[in-house]
Amino acid sequence: MDKSVAVIPGDDSSPEAIEPVVELLQEILPSVTWTYPRIDGNASSGQATTLADKGKAQIDNADATLFGSTSGRSSLALRYLRWGKETFANVRPCKYIAGCRSPLRRPEGIDFVIVRENLEDLYVGIEGNLDELALLDRVGRTGGRHPSEYGDGNYALKVISEKGTRRVARFACELALKRNGKRTVTCVTKRNMLPKSDGLFHSVANEVVGQCEGLTFESFIVDDFACRLIREPQRFDVVLMPNLYGDILSDAAGGLLGSLGLAASGCYGDNYAYFEPAHGTAPDIAGTNTINPTATLLSATMMLEYLGHRRTAEKLEHCVEEVYAAGHPLTPDQGGIASTTTFVNAVRHRYFAGS
Ligand code: IPM
Ligand code: MG
Repeated sequence: MDKSVAVIPGDDSSPEAIEPVVELLQEILPSVTWTYPRIDGNASSGQATTLADKGKAQIDNADATLFGSTSGRSSLALRYLRWGKETFANVRPCKYIAGCRSPLRRPEGIDFVIVRENLEDLYVGIEGNLDELALLDRVGRTGGRHPSEYGDGNYALKVISEKGTRRVARFACELALKRNGKRTVTCVTKRNMLPKSDGLFHSVANEVVGQCEGLTFESFIVDDFACRLIREPQRFDVVLMPNLYGDILSDAAGGLLGSLGLAASGCYGDNYAYFEPAHGTAPDIAGTNTINPTATLLSATMMLEYLGHRRTAEKLEHCVEEVYAAGHPLTPDQGGIASTTTFVNAVRHRYFAGS
């Protein structure tokens, strides 16, 4: 029995990238079943919650989900795919494709992967009023003023757990071993300012990498890393970081390649994975059929690999690379004039021409 995939097309321009890519995947792998869960409702409305439950079941019953980008309408689905399915490792490859329009003079050889912890850090969604922190003297405080001295204001909680860090660090190690590249895990934190939270992330990562024979551990403070990311991106292999830095720096990594339209991602848990382009929904070009589908195509190749279709994934990725190497047809973000569907058709043509 072949696999099933749930598709959530996302918001604004996103479905314009997802739909032609799904059509292509249906041609490439006719045995895969595709379902379209509907969990786009408003959580406070009873009807939408019923829809959400049905949608959740459809996600649960699929082997993986292909998810478009969300600007809010699909955020319930995103929440479920991350916290509901415990997809703790957000993998964001940054690999230069010859022919893509990078702003760097020498982008050749860039080939690293950001592993972003996907469930913790500031994304636990706990915010409140500074008044609530009156008891703060009873917990660790490493600097700054007492919250009461700031006057009125709010706070957000940053959570780094040992278990959460250990599992994502293990994931990063397995990936570094599998890639068999520089066999290095680079850990990025702000542990000089946040010795308890980021300090824990760093020390657990150091310990986990240290237990993996054949891997080297290195670490940078996040601001220093941001500079190195621009100056020497070729030196990195697997870069492990807490959620917020991973969110921000994976967009920066997309910019290094030339467009967020090239940035793929896959979010993996112990029992589930979902795949989504790392870019936003590009509302400014919605309805124009010009969103770059490369990030969606490359996210789909990650999904195919996860589903056990490794060779198909490699072939599809190669076809995308061939279009860039040929220099056309490319979408406007890459200096071309092609539409989204023209680009996908060019990939389709190469895929079936080579079979
Ligand atoms: C991403 C996005 C999401 C995030 C948003 C849409 C919540 O920016 O996947 O990087 O912050 O994780
Ligand atoms: Mg982001």
